[in-house]
Amino acid sequence: MAEPLILGLESSCDDTAAALVRGRDVLSSVVEGQNSLHAAYGGVVPEIAARAHAERLDLCVERALDEASVTLADVDAIAATAGPGLIGGVLSGVMMAKALSAALGKPLIGVNHLAGHALTPRLTDGLAYPYLMLLVSGGHCQFLIVRGPQDFTRLGGTIDDAPGEAFDKTARLLGLPQPGGPSVEIEARNGDETLYRFPRPLLDRPGCDLSFSGLKTALMRQRDQIIADRDGLTRADRAALCAGFQAAVRDVLAEKTRRAIGLYMNETPTEPAFAVAGGVAANMAIRTALESVCINFGIRFTAPPLRLCTDNAAMIAYAGGELLAAGVSHDMSLQARPRWPL
Ligand code: KG4
Ligand code: ZN
Repeated sequence: MAEPLILGLESSCDDTAAALVRGRDVLSSVVEGQNSLHAAYGGVVPEIAARAHAERLDLCVERALDEASVTLADVDAIAATAGPGLIGGVLSGVMMAKALSAALGKPLIGVNHLAGHALTPRLTDGLAYPYLMLLVSGGHCQFLIVRGPQDFTRLGGTIDDAPGEAFDKTARLLGLPQPGGPSVEIEARNGDETLYRFPRPLLDRPGCDLSFSGLKTALMRQRDQIIADRDGLTRADRAALCAGFQAAVRDVLAEKTRRAIGLYMNETPTEPAFAVAGGVAANMAIRTALESVCINFGIRFTAPPLRLCTDNAAMIAYAGGELLAAGVSHDMSLQARPRWPL
């Protein structure tokens, strides 16, 4: 029998998305960003986001159906992000999913957005449970052992900023364009990473927690010192600052990954694997460092393609499919949850 066709909806932050997924097959994945709507305000405005989701969700669903060449009648279940996230947006998605479920008489599945991210390596690479995952983006930074669609162990995470945020702030401090990650990475290629040595926070403490806010402060001090000494930043200064900063983030992530793998391997997984996902996973210096850590431990390294690591509805549909197979579905009392830890 064919696996069920799942319609996924995502509206928890500033991307409106709909996707159709059957098993590990992504038939369509439509993502409508809202960057231009929020650009003037320097951040996501919840009311504007909620309105945009409400206006665009049905169009995204229509496009997703079109691109997959299916109709609503072919859909076997509807999965929507039910949290965590901005409540107005999450509500839009949950209400749309309830309406479709009631109208079609098909199961409704509320999905945790973070579970969607965490299950992506199964969708893209077919990893077996349990695997180790590092979620590293502008909003997240945590190590998870993923054991099942509702079974996660958090080994540690950032106690302040996420690394992507630190990259973005660094770019801002150095007058480089946003998003900061790619700009800093490009500058860093021409810089000597040993010229300025930045702290490697929390390496002296046991465990897998991370901290990135001190790094940003150290960078600001170093920048101000250079400006005071020499009356301005040269291209070479900027490149060296970027290289030094990126090396610090890389070293911290690599060392904490070593520790997380150590804890994970204590459980003697049958097919040991590590996945890194999120915007920062696009950074080649960081990715290569994490990959070599995995090679040293003799475990499989994966990094899902970026379009499935950033917010999307295919991961929600996929997670919905796993939940459905595990016997999970919800009724009309499904609540939208602004906070929902894994
Ligand atoms: O996963 P993502 O698209 O969105 C969320 O944060 O939810 O991640 C975006 C973050 C931004 O902070 C961006 O600067 C960072 O990922 N990023 C990078 C690179 N490309 C994107 N950071 C470092 N190096 C990169 N090449
Ligand atoms: Zn996300």
